[in-house]
Amino acid sequence: MSIVVNVYHINRAPVTYIQIFENELVTLGVFVIREGNKLPLHNHPLMHGIIKVLAGTLNITSYSVMENKSNPLSQCNNSSQTQDNSERMREREGTFYIPGLGSVLIPCYGETRDQTETADVSAPLFCSQSTLSYLDSPNVFLAMRHSPLLLTATDEALYLTPRERNLHEIHCVNGPAAFLDVIGPPYKPVSLLDCTYFEDMGEMSPDNKAVRMLHKISCPSYFYTDEEKYKGPPIEIT
Ligand SMILES: [Fe+2]
Repeated sequence: MSIVVNVYHINRAPVTYIQIFENELVTLGVFVIREGNKLPLHNHPLMHGIIKVLAGTLNITSYSVMENKSNPLSQCNNSSQTQDNSERMREREGTFYIPGLGSVLIPCYGETRDQTETADVSAPLFCSQSTLSYLDSPNVFLAMRHSPLLLTATDEALYLTPRERNLHEIHCVNGPAAFLDVIGPPYKPVSLLDCTYFEDMGEMSPDNKAVRMLHKISCPSYFYTDEEKYKGPPIEIT
């Protein structure tokens, strides 16, 4: 009796990254996720991104951080010009019991729009530093979980923005999978523009399972990557 071992898979990381191109504006690369593995829930701070499946099937669950205008904490919308800052801060926070964490103060995040402001509050707010305010302490914040998407190579690319679907968890399904990952601007390690990992602590209320409490965590020990060299044609971006 002989045992066949595929040496290619010995000591390989759960995920391999192949960087194709990077400049100050954009990073292009391919992630290969080995069977049974995943990219844990992480963010792309202040970045836009495109995910295009190249092989296999991905299950992608995305989250959008909740901000003042959509936060279910009713007190979030009560700011007034006559209040001082500490009063405003109190009105934008709520204390909640979270299993495993106890009582946690959860602030609302995002820009505070003055109620006298005439601007259209439904207009999208683009890339600003306040989009990162959920990364300040405390470590728990609210996010809207989008329905999971099953994507294959025949599907359209998935887009993320600094505000929409900026956090995601990516599983491969029924075997390994590979996807093209385009993000801009690139990560900047050891800064607010570095990747952060999160854990979904559960729903905010039984009536709305899409509103989730997320908790910042360190990189899970099961997740690490190795790298392969890109051997395709040279890439030129103009
Ligand atoms: Fe990602």
